Amino acid sequence: MQRDIEISLWVNGEPVRRRVEARRSLVDFLRLELGLTGSHVGCEHGVCGACTVRVDGTTQRGCLTLAAQVDGCRIETVEGLSDSGSIADLQAAFLERNAVQCGYCSAGMLLTAAELVAARPAADRAAIRAYMAGNYCRCTGYQAIVDAIEAVLRQRRAGAGPG
Ligand code: FES
Ligand code: FES
Repeated sequence: MQRDIEISLWVNGEPVRRRVEARRSLVDFLRLELGLTGSHVGCEHGVCGACTVRVDGTTQRGCLTLAAQVDGCRIETVEGLSDSGSIADLQAAFLERNAVQCGYCSAGMLLTAAELVAARPAADRAAIRAYMAGNYCRCTGYQAIVDAIEAVLRQRRAGAGPG
């Protein structure tokens, strides 16, 4: 027997109330029920990071999180971060450095990178690689992604000034 559960949450700042199947993953809920298709489904086993979204300010695997578990939470997806302009410098750097090829990994990469630049402003290349290790890319070989994140960290440090 299939059970539906009513959930209320905030998605990219908008209130959402829906009945969801108990087994519905968060990433499927966002993609199939809310039309937010920026987050992708890759491995569905918590390995690749393509499904990364923010739940109450922390990145999580959308494939390992059930929609029913985020009742009352604040969800942010790449669409919301993009609309807010908060990742504009990362998006520009990814494009400029050719860190996007097929784009399948890019939403997850950008969300993890956004968390990194906020949490580790002094990260060097080794620290960037370690932080991004849970996001897989089958196209770029990672070098360009690390280049882009390093460039943004440098820009943000320069913008923050000496104080
Ligand atoms: S689809 Fe979620 S980690 Fe791969
Ligand atoms: S750009 Fe294709 S998987 Fe990363």
